[in-house]
Amino acid sequence: MIVLDRENRIFTLHTLNTTYQMKADQYNVLLHTYYGSRIDGCDLSVLIQCNDRSFTPNPNEAGSNRNYSLDVMPQEYSTCGVGDFRLPSVELELKNGSHTVDLRYKGFRLEKGKCPSEGLPGFYGSEDEVETLVIVLKDAAAQVETELYYSIFENYDLITRAVRVVNQGTDEIRLYQCASLCLDFLRDDMDLLTFNARHLMERCPDRGPLRPGILSVGSVRGISSHQHNPFVILCDHDADEDKGMCYGAMLLYSGNFEAAVECSQFENSRLVMGIHPYHFCWTLEPGQAFTAPEAAMVCSPDGFGQMSRQYHRAVREHLLRDPYHGRQKPVLVNNWEATYFDFNADRLIDIAREAAALGIGLFVMDDGWFGSRNDDNSGLGDWQVNLEKLPGGLEDLALHIKDLGMKFGIWMEPEMVNEDSHLYRAHPDWVLHVPGRAPSRGRGQLVLDFSRKDVRDYIYEQMKAILSGADISYLKWDMNRSLTDVWSAGLSARRQGEVYHRYVLGVYDLLERLRHDYPHILIEGCCGGGGRFDGGMLYYTPQIWCSDDTDAIDRLRIQYGTSFCYPACTVGAHVSAVPNEQNGRVTPLNTRGITAMSGAFGYEMDLGRCTMEEKNEIRRQVKNYKIHYDLLHYGDYYRLSSPYQDSVYTAWEQVSPDQREALVNVVFGCAGTAPLFCTLRLKGLDPALQYQVDGTDSFYSGKALMNAGYPLPSVQGDYPALQIYLRAAG
Ligand code: GLA
Repeated sequence: MIVLDRENRIFTLHTLNTTYQMKADQYNVLLHTYYGSRIDGCDLSVLIQCNDRSFTPNPNEAGSNRNYSLDVMPQEYSTCGVGDFRLPSVELELKNGSHTVDLRYKGFRLEKGKCPSEGLPGFYGSEDEVETLVIVLKDAAAQVETELYYSIFENYDLITRAVRVVNQGTDEIRLYQCASLCLDFLRDDMDLLTFNARHLMERCPDRGPLRPGILSVGSVRGISSHQHNPFVILCDHDADEDKGMCYGAMLLYSGNFEAAVECSQFENSRLVMGIHPYHFCWTLEPGQAFTAPEAAMVCSPDGFGQMSRQYHRAVREHLLRDPYHGRQKPVLVNNWEATYFDFNADRLIDIAREAAALGIGLFVMDDGWFGSRNDDNSGLGDWQVNLEKLPGGLEDLALHIKDLGMKFGIWMEPEMVNEDSHLYRAHPDWVLHVPGRAPSRGRGQLVLDFSRKDVRDYIYEQMKAILSGADISYLKWDMNRSLTDVWSAGLSARRQGEVYHRYVLGVYDLLERLRHDYPHILIEGCCGGGGRFDGGMLYYTPQIWCSDDTDAIDRLRIQYGTSFCYPACTVGAHVSAVPNEQNGRVTPLNTRGITAMSGAFGYEMDLGRCTMEEKNEIRRQVKNYKIHYDLLHYGDYYRLSSPYQDSVYTAWEQVSPDQREALVNVVFGCAGTAPLFCTLRLKGLDPALQYQVDGTDSFYSGKALMNAGYPLPSVQGDYPALQIYLRAAG
């Protein structure tokens, strides 16, 4: 709900449990007055106190009033060069060389529904579901107008933000920064949580208190990256899963980004998040506009758990565009770890046949089916089937798979090219490269210049020929390196600062074309696993291969971190063989199944090499997954313990929205001799209901399970796991 106090120019955005407020003051400065637990009917600008502080300049129109300074007051969208020395949200250069930006309130408008931002991903919603407030700020001297968009997804406690800068002058301007979100707090006694690490170990949470100066994470790799996720949380020092104020900030963007938090001299803090200013410079001709990517905030007064569940619901219902919406996705089998590049049609059909017999419904052929692709040094860019490996072509293979009662999917890496390819030999100038420099390789490959439409058009034609030439219902869109040598032959020297962003827009453009032309194809995003696991990609690819690390115990950590923002149904997760390909660890098949099942589930192993006992176990897992599909994908997710803190076990739980069903998952650590008995306290149940455990004669009340706990059985061996199904009696 948006509440307007026109007289006092106060804008209050209410969600179910939270309130966000801004006020245009006597000098038309848009102040941020409050964000937190819901408060109705208050002008919260009373919280802002000013007095004369030295070295904090006063705007000219404040006259002799030395109490008024932009450097002290919480700003809604921070400027630069006029007295606020904290992190700017926007920086631009005028023809006269000035970098000063001074935005003042000009007006507002209300829109029903969500304003679409052309070419960029965003949460969507109907006019009944969403309302949008647009606040217009203007820098009169620079002739620059800035529109701040706020869309309210009330039931999800979610507010999306976007920013549009318009050049209303007669000269070009150069935009060096245009943040998507600026969030000022009248406090700095908070922790910052970020999600970091590296390839094969993505989204590990890191938590620490704010401190004087700037803390920041980001990426200048051209992808959102394995190293830092474009999602951060600010929270109370004592916030945990169930209590404390938490502010989540998610950027729907798949390229260079920065999330920076500054603690100021007056113990206030500011979060600024958006496209990374590194090598960003966008030229706006008179009349032109630039739109910054969307950011989505969830504030939870009740800890991380509630914040995550609100994000999960909002992502599932208002961000994903899933061809399987309302239907079960098939369990898949992928041949990558089973064969790598070494396969032919017979080998693939054998794997598919085994899989079909176990109830698996989708066969995905990974890398190696095209061009001269027998290892990762050649072939990328040549999207023609390798007839030596697949003599009957894709069509014939797809028919064989269909005969087995399965759907068929393929792997592609459209953004890349190997030097050893027909495409590169024909168009060496199509790769990102700086004139006079030989470009760096990554995994032996170069990056196609997706900022160029002609390059994208060519690749799209190749993709269409493949996707239309056989019965294909799934595409794994991979991307296996960071961007370097970022320079485009398609842009003038003055516009080279646009290449990184235009590249991302190019990726989105092609994905959108695919979605439009092949709405039935489920696209899985991938970037060496989870290098582009972000809200931007999820708009186009409703699931993303979460990590190239398929070890179940490492996955507990990766999936735990991922779950802070992203729902389980988006997390591509496969059972693979042991010893694990990445780290050599041996874990029970049951553990691998339970871990992967809390995601978009599949297998990535040579099923033909499984024993009869293992096959029976896989059959049981697939059946179980199908039975509990709704709980696993749409249930409310509760983290019951942290794999970073608890070495005895890691536990998590899915609860149906009506609280009548729950699935409790527990994975134990290494075998311990004479272990202690553990009880696991559950969450999210109805205290008044009696729950039957796994169809047995054991009944526990919700109240008992949540307060006293469930007695975990003692287990033997390394990494055993259990899954307990609870169903309300009656
Ligand atoms: C990336 C992906 C893997 C696999 C390989 C194929 O590493 O993350 O899942 O598809 O590429 O080359």
